[in-house]
Parts: sequence; structure tokens; C-alpha cells
Amino acid sequence: MQIVKTIKEVREITGAWRKNGYTVGLVPTMGYLHEGHGSLISRAVSENDRTVVSIFVNPIQFGPSEDLESYPRDIEKDSAFCESLGADLIFNPEPAEMYHEGFSTYVDMDILTKELCGITRPMHFRGVCTVVIKLFHIVQPYRAYFGQKDAQQLAIIRHMVDDLNMDIEIKGCPIVREADGLAKSSRNTYLSAAERKAALCLSRAVQCGSDMVKNGETDSVKVVGAMKEIIEAEPLAEIDYVKAVNGLTMQQTDLIEAPALTAMAVYIGKTRLIDNFAVK
Ligand code: PAF
Repeated sequence: MQIVKTIKEVREITGAWRKNGYTVGLVPTMGYLHEGHGSLISRAVSENDRTVVSIFVNPIQFGPSEDLESYPRDIEKDSAFCESLGADLIFNPEPAEMYHEGFSTYVDMDILTKELCGITRPMHFRGVCTVVIKLFHIVQPYRAYFGQKDAQQLAIIRHMVDDLNMDIEIKGCPIVREADGLAKSSRNTYLSAAERKAALCLSRAVQCGSDMVKNGETDSVKVVGAMKEIIEAEPLAEIDYVKAVNGLTMQQTDLIEAPALTAMAVYIGKTRLIDNFAVK
């Protein structure tokens, strides 16, 4: 496995692969990898001849008061993890490699980016779309892999690829959870022992909501209400949002029916965590 820091090197390596007829899978990440990322990498390795993992904490998707500086980083551990899963290349650029002086072109999207996380993080998805499209242009993958935990991000990327006629297959992969149910996230490392325990209210709420829907309840007021009750009972938790939306458009829905997404963002202390369940 190789680790490179420049766009030129990635282009040379992936260009040679494509010339040899190899399919290339891309797993975009911000590093500090866990088993959730591992599931994306393993799937990419199993479905493509070559797999690229990008590790880049993308500054333009963080708001001014967010955790860009403190976002956890451990490139050595990440490299060993990627290698153990069979990845072929890590692209780990410095911010200046991705955003040269005078950089001023962004990819933005209406509607989907304005809901859910887009309300408290108004510039976030512009930063995500911009970096993802840059990574697509640099690596030119055949397939790219994203987690369902960031369900709004996944829907936005699918929409962007469709809107801009990009010839890339977007693969969404299931949420990976800790044994006690907490969705895996690099930000879980911010949690104190008491917060870690409190954070279980998210997965408990997801479990309750999805059980209600499985048992035939489609009224979003009832389902979201029951989920909120669980979170509100936890003193360390503060709800940013719990909403049922159409999973393609992100617009609020009264009926939880396919393709619905019931999603939440909750502060546990200072840490903002997300979780969701989709109705397929
Ligand atoms: O999901 C993430 O880790 C990031 O938003 C992504 C897709 C790698 C873009 O920086």
C-alpha cells in the first residue's frame, strides 16, 4: 500500500490502473478511522480491483466555532488499518494541496442542503460537495463509498452526481454500531465516561422509532414524539433536531413510509452526534 500527499501522484497511480483496465473504488474519509470506515473500505476492496482511501480533514466543511482544530487525527494508525483491510493507496493531502491560494470555486446545492444538519451548519454541505467533487476529479473512481450514518450527506452526494451527470456509482453502506448500540463515529472520542453512557439515548431513540414503524406506525408526530421523549429524559442530552423527512428530498413528512428517513442530531455535552433509520 502506498501513501501519497500530492494530486499529481494520485493521478499518475490511478491513471496507470485505469489504463490497465482496473476498476477503482474510492472511500473518502476525514481519518481517525473506525470499524464504520472499515466496512466501507472492505466493501470497496471486495468490489473493485484497486481501492483508494482519502484521509483529509476538510477545513471548508467546518463552521467557525466548530472542531476543525481538535478533530482527532492519527495517520499512522489509519495507515495500518487501511493496509490490514487491503486498501491499495492512501491520499493524505495537506490543506494547501487541496485549496491553493486564491481558491474560490465551490459546489453548492439548493433544497437538500438547507434541511436537517444544514440548518445549524449552513456552510457544511457546500464544503462537503466541493471536496467530494474534487476527490472524484482527482481519483476518477468507478465507485465511491459513503456511510448511511451521514444519511443526508449520502443523499446530497447521490443528488450531486445525478445533477452533474457524473459517471460514478455511489454506494451507501449500513451504519456500524458499538456492541451497546452507539453508532461508530470519530467524534465519540470526545465523550467523557458519563457522556458516553448518556449518548446511548440516540440509539435507544432510533431503536424505539424503528420498532414503532416496523409494527405499523406511520404517523411521524407519534414516532418522532416517542423518540424525543427518550432523548429529553437524558439530562446530558440537548436535541438539535429529530425529524422524519423524505429520504430523497429531505423535506419533512407526516407519514413515515418509504423512502422516509428519521434522523436526529443531539448534543451530548459539547459533542454533536447524529443517528438515523431509513424506511426502504
Ligand atoms: O463523511 C466524511 O467523513 C466527510 O464529510 C467526507 C465525505 C470525507 C468529506 O470530507
